[in-house]
Amino acid sequence: MIKQIVSKNNKIELGMLTSSSFNFLLSSKYKDSKKIIIVDENTEQECWPFVLTSFEALKDAEVILLPSGEENKVMEICFQVWEAFTNYKIQRNDLVINLGGGVVTDMGGFIASVYKRGLDFINVPTTLLSMVDASVGGKTGINLGPHKNQLGVFSAAELTVCDASFLKTLEPKEILSGKSEMIKHGLIASKSLFNDLVNDKNEIPSAELIEAAILIKSDIVDKDYKEEGDRKKLNFGHTIGHSIEGCLLEKQVEITHGECVAWGMLVESYLSISLAGLSSEEFSIIETYIRNTYTALAIDEAEFGNLIQLMFHDKKNQGAKINFTLLNAIGESTVDYQLEEDQILEALKKVFM
Ligand SMILES: NC(=O)c1ccc[n+]([C@@H]2O[C@H](COP(=O)([O-])OP(=O)(O)OC[C@H]3O[C@@H](n4cnc5c(N)ncnc54)[C@H](O)[C@@H]3O)[C@@H](O)[C@H]2O)c1
Repeated sequence: MIKQIVSKNNKIELGMLTSSSFNFLLSSKYKDSKKIIIVDENTEQECWPFVLTSFEALKDAEVILLPSGEENKVMEICFQVWEAFTNYKIQRNDLVINLGGGVVTDMGGFIASVYKRGLDFINVPTTLLSMVDASVGGKTGINLGPHKNQLGVFSAAELTVCDASFLKTLEPKEILSGKSEMIKHGLIASKSLFNDLVNDKNEIPSAELIEAAILIKSDIVDKDYKEEGDRKKLNFGHTIGHSIEGCLLEKQVEITHGECVAWGMLVESYLSISLAGLSSEEFSIIETYIRNTYTALAIDEAEFGNLIQLMFHDKKNQGAKINFTLLNAIGESTVDYQLEEDQILEALKKVFM
């Protein structure tokens, strides 16, 4: 059975790809379009064979293989894909299908959105993180050096289909990475989702929990597509998390996006105690969960200055201060706290030393 999440800015379907409107779109609206499938090294192996054998309309599709990993979410790769589009004589009415995790949906969405001023694209997310977060909400983009998602456009997919059967081949650390963004959705907007996730002992979260997390994201995005207000709530944990990710990316340390966000959420929860009214009891619940679930990070005090410098490039900032979303309580958050460097340093010390 397919569930549709009706939303102003996204058309999201949950359930089997083969029962979704994907097939219908391929054989109706995009019947005469060339189809370009963007995959990475892992989704080419684990996901593409199933998709190819399931959909007759994809038998002549052009497959574009990206190197997997965050370090490849860069302009150099985009140039190569745009050159391939030109060689394939791709036109405005052609269709891009992003089959992969957040790197593929972010970068594939960006590549499609700027080629010839915009090709339509469909997201078929294959990681938990891209199902509950990256493939929903119309943010596409790439990194610029250590600065996360510094180049990009708001551009919504024509359709996003979240088929949890793709998650069976995902490594456990990637499931935990996606769960971190689900935890974030609970922390900013739903205490019951947070509690359910913390108590969930299943290796892969249930379809109900995945749906609940997507609903929180799509609700927030519908109210504030261009991130002028409440959408900044979705950045909880990311001001610190993106700086950790950028810093470790530069040092070629392998780490998932969700792990960086989890530790970022812990630092930002600590800041929330004195600045936004989060109780010490609720902080302890968050701290216990994160310390017990995510591997300790290789961040020492010598890196703190570098982290702060990276935070000055955060896209939420206005002026000379660093902008944060903080928690008033588990399930309640407020945007636009402008913080000084010494406040952030103190929180980094508290969490990492
Ligand atoms: N656009 C947004 O709103 C938004 C929101 C959150 C995160 N993001 C971005 O998402 C990215 C992280 O996404 P991610 O965690 O999905 O990373 P990812 O795309 O790198 O995928 C993680 C790993 O899993 C592999 N993989 C993907 N699907 C698989 C499958 N079904 N079976 C086996 N292996 C599979 C990939 O090849 C990769 O090695 C970051 O770049 C982050 O900035 C974007």
